[in-house]
This record gives sequence, C-alpha cells and structure tokens, in this order.
Amino acid sequence: MRLTDNEIEAIAQKIVSKAPQSGRRPIIVGNWKMHKTPAEGEALVRQLIPLVEGASCEIGVAPAFPCLDRVAGALAGSNVHLCAQNAFWEAEGAFTGEVSTAMLKDLGVTHAIIGHSERRQYFGETDETVNHRAKTLFAAEMTPILCVGESLQEREEGLTHTVVERQVRGGLQGVANNQVANMVLAYEPVWAIGTGKVATLGQAQEVHGAIRRFVADLYDAQTSAAVRIQYGGSVKPDNAKQLLAQPDIDGALVGGAALKAEDFAAICLAA
Ligand code: PGA
Repeated sequence: MRLTDNEIEAIAQKIVSKAPQSGRRPIIVGNWKMHKTPAEGEALVRQLIPLVEGASCEIGVAPAFPCLDRVAGALAGSNVHLCAQNAFWEAEGAFTGEVSTAMLKDLGVTHAIIGHSERRQYFGETDETVNHRAKTLFAAEMTPILCVGESLQEREEGLTHTVVERQVRGGLQGVANNQVANMVLAYEPVWAIGTGKVATLGQAQEVHGAIRRFVADLYDAQTSAAVRIQYGGSVKPDNAKQLLAQPDIDGALVGGAALKAEDFAAICLAA
C-alpha cells in the first residue's frame, strides 16, 4: 500500500507530539558560507554564546577559513564547537587554495562539512572527492558532516532515493562502521537551500528514514541507529521544533538563520 502525500503529512504531524527517544543527541551546526569577516564572526559568536549556554543539544558554527582563528578565540571555554566548511585530503604540498586537516586541527576545529551541494554544484565536488575528504577527517580524528540531497529536477523525476543512496554509498566507501556511527550525515534537498522552501515534515522524515535504511543495509542496525542525520534547507526558528521532532531527524544544518545570533540560538533551544 502506498500512502498519499497527505497521509504521510498527517502521520508526520502526529509524530511531533510524541517523538520517541532515540538516544541520539541532536546536533545543530551553523554554516556561515561566505558571510562574515573575522571581526563580524567574532561579534556573532560573542552574542551567541550566552544565549546557548544552557542548550542540551550539541552546537557548532562553521565560519569561512579566515574567520576560524578569531572565532576560536571567542569560543574558548564555551559549549560551541568550531567547524570548517571543507577540508582537503592531502597532508601538505602544492595545492593552491586548499586547507589541510592539520591546519584546521591546530586552530581547534573538530568537525568539517563535506560534500555540501554548493561545493558539488559550483566546485566540481563528486562522491569520490567527498569520500577522500571523509577518510582524511577520520584519520585526523575529526568529525565529517557529510551532506547529501537531490535537486528539484531529481525529485520531480522520482530519483530522490536513488541520488541520496548513491551519495551516501559513494561518500562512505571504505569507511568503517564505528566511524559512521560517530559521524554526522546531513540531508539537504538542494531545492530547499536558501530558498525559504522548507521540505514538509513528511518529505523530510521520509528521506531521513530512507537514509537510515541505506546505512543499515551498508553496515548494520547498530550503526544505523547511532548515526545522526541533520536536516538542512531553510531551517528557521519557526519550523525547527517540528522538524527536530521527527524520529529520524537528529539536528539541523542551518545557513541563513545561523547569521543572526537570536535566530540560531532559538533553533538550538528548540532541539
Ligand atoms: P539555508 O542553508 O538554511 O540558508 O537554506 C542551509 C545549508 O546550505 O546548509
């Protein structure tokens, strides 16, 4: 039996009021993209820290590379992780414009976003390069936040699961189950990023559930139950709570709303 979109939506709405406890601690990460100078970044986190002091979720901010050092200083002693927006797979060498995990680690970076759709769309990122980055981050004992997600055209052609499964499979090639259990996946439908068009609860939960099943097929039930899967794409203070209440949504990767301390803090407190 296939449920209609309305039926899926009705179930998702009901789940909001009685979400089961998965044991997975929600993780909210702000992806600043190419916004904020070092001074602006420092000011933003200085505003943010007192607002999220009491939050029970895990929190991170991912400033652009030039801001990392200054933001790291401001984050010292806080409950906010310093994350990077990318990391290269070579240790060092003639790779103009790239940044190594050792450089990031030295600044206090603990997590790095890889395979973001903007990297895939504009900078030639492929499942293979994402996989190299993931392995390099694991080797450096850093946590990858691996992004997957379909374009509008792919969704309309009914290819959402095929695309997302290919991205998960390709990105995790040769990665061990204990590594997957401790990393973060982020489902970001490309059509929802920066567009204000958020996936419905039913659409988001449905793909998150499918990703968890792919991980169970590739690894085992324990790994799939442990891996955290963030939702990303126009997450705002007014939709965060409902999204985060879905059983397979374990956090959010936040773009636009992460640029304002009050908005980002409200999302963290909703988790
Ligand atoms: P958005 O970006 O919240 O501005 O849609 C999300 C992301 O790209 O991670």
